[in-house]
Amino acid sequence: MKGIILAGGSGTRLHPVTKAVSKQLLPIYDKPMIYYPLSTLMLAGIREILLITTPHDQASFQRLLGDGSSLGIEISYVIQESPNGLAYALILGEEFLAGDKCVLILGDNLFYGSGLGTQLQRNYDVDGALIFAYQVEDPTAYGVVEFDDDGRVLSLEEKPEAPKSHFAVPGIYFYDEEAPQLARTLTPSQRGELEITALNNAYLERGSLRVEKLPRSTTWLDTGTHESLYEASGLIRTLQHRSGLRIGDVTQIARDAGWITA
Ligand code: DAU
Repeated sequence: MKGIILAGGSGTRLHPVTKAVSKQLLPIYDKPMIYYPLSTLMLAGIREILLITTPHDQASFQRLLGDGSSLGIEISYVIQESPNGLAYALILGEEFLAGDKCVLILGDNLFYGSGLGTQLQRNYDVDGALIFAYQVEDPTAYGVVEFDDDGRVLSLEEKPEAPKSHFAVPGIYFYDEEAPQLARTLTPSQRGELEITALNNAYLERGSLRVEKLPRSTTWLDTGTHESLYEASGLIRTLQHRSGLRIGDVTQIARDAGWITA
């Protein structure tokens, strides 16, 4: 299983802050944002990771993370010339994947909760696609999944004005080896992007999409706005101060996993 982190995009909702600095390098309390999705992949046991960035931000990420060897992992880099959609990550990652399955995670999504690593590791050998559902008060800014009474998926919509449920789709997706090829068959949406929801719908139509609800004990935050950025920093600060444990500390995770030594 390989991992892809999508850390491009123009971060327009955070302008002017992100005019000169990549959104995914902004601090969430005491670490760069990218550490959190990277730590999620590492906790899932993934050690081969592709980082997709804008052309001008690549050097900054390389300064921060290098080739990953200081964390006992392998990080490679690919440039996305323009923000033409999340599903494009599978096309950009095709060569890196070389026929392997993958986990795609968005560089501005933060997950925290006990048992998360185990829940992710259980799904290593995914057939088709696996995505998650997480209950939120207002799902209009997300992909939204609708279930029937037996928990089967009825529909998937991207940022619907009238959502059919309160279940948002967080930015972590498991795909089998067919994802790059399927992504190539998609047509851009009205906003000119290859939507990840369109890729997930393609799997749904083939009858090979599974949706797992994330437990309430898992925290999921998308840190794409000033409000959510501020909230995420506050949350990490509170949790770390209270417990004395560190969240998203990639060095500590690598050491605990035995991938590096002190
Ligand atoms: O956060 C989860 C949501 O992420 C999902 O529920 C939605 O279905 C999905 O479309 C996505 O919605 P967003 O509106 O939050 O996506 P955004 O455009 O903010 O992009 C998410 C991340 O991916 C962000 O860190 C920037 C990066 N990105 C985005 C695009 C469009 C890229 O690297 N390249 C891109 O082309």
